[in-house]
Amino acid sequence: MGNVGTEVVRILRDRADDLKARVGAPVVIRGIAVRRIEIDRGVPEELLTTDADALVARDDVDIVVEVIGGIEKPRSLILAALNSGKSVVTANKALLADYTGEIAEAAERTRADLYFEAAVAGAIPVVRPLMQSLAGDKVNRVVGIVNGTTNFILSAMAATGAGYEESLAEASRLGYAEADPTADVEGYDAAAKAAILASLAFHTRVTAADVYREGISNVTAEDLATAKALDCTVKLLALCERVSDEDGKERISVRVYPALLPLSHPLARVDGAFNAVVVEAEAAGRLMFYGQGAGGAPTASAVMGDLVMAARNKFYGGRGPGESTYAKLPIAPMGDT
Ligand code: HSE
Repeated sequence: MGNVGTEVVRILRDRADDLKARVGAPVVIRGIAVRRIEIDRGVPEELLTTDADALVARDDVDIVVEVIGGIEKPRSLILAALNSGKSVVTANKALLADYTGEIAEAAERTRADLYFEAAVAGAIPVVRPLMQSLAGDKVNRVVGIVNGTTNFILSAMAATGAGYEESLAEASRLGYAEADPTADVEGYDAAAKAAILASLAFHTRVTAADVYREGISNVTAEDLATAKALDCTVKLLALCERVSDEDGKERISVRVYPALLPLSHPLARVDGAFNAVVVEAEAAGRLMFYGQGAGGAPTASAVMGDLVMAARNKFYGGRGPGESTYAKLPIAPMGDT
């Protein structure tokens, strides 16, 4: 029950009736694994446990939502869930970037659902569009601002002329930066997200270690001033593209680095803690996804979308009916038009 977990539990409880209508059956919280049980979290005490393994193993648990972060513990919990045919919804970009193969294979073996929309760019739907909507197209390039903390810092530096340290302190004060902001400011978080985006976009296995990575801790107020004088700004970009080497062979290039961007570029206008992802595909052309890429509620929105899909699939057996449930919708109570 961190930032995201707390919001997921809140939505599950507040919107239970609506979720039941969406899924076709009630979605019931069987238990919540926490590190410390003594904290009052406003949920019935009997739901809380410190034994996540036992909770995941329970027969009455069909779907496991993993929002604990870290790598080894969630990895073993997720594998245990998938190996026993349970659906998994996770927001864990660091885990997926390193272990996509192992985790996806476990899901494939038992034909279990594995959903991770929340792992990249919070509330912004970008995983499912790449995995499903664009699956029949050829994606050539994905370029995005996928880390809210660094975008907040660079936007503040551009707007106020402040230095890096001062802007990082402001990001911490407002709760954007983690207590240890290394993963954000050194580009590790964005590199994990870039690896996931590239894997989905190019249908090939890219891990965080394959990503060229450079953070923003060396960007200075002078850099931002120079950029401004050139009608540009500086953004930490995650860039995934198909490139050709000398003998014309197609390769994948995935890079995270602070880039000089003309102010006329749509990503230059993405400020504050917002994220945006531009996808270029052969038939679709250019698509842009924009919104809140971090924070408890926005990330919980993506988790909940995955949870509804997983629950529908469980209820209907195998892959669910998707939007054919439109056939069962009640007539809308329309307002004035
Ligand atoms: N620390 C991340 C960010 C949170 O700032 O974007 C979402 O992954």
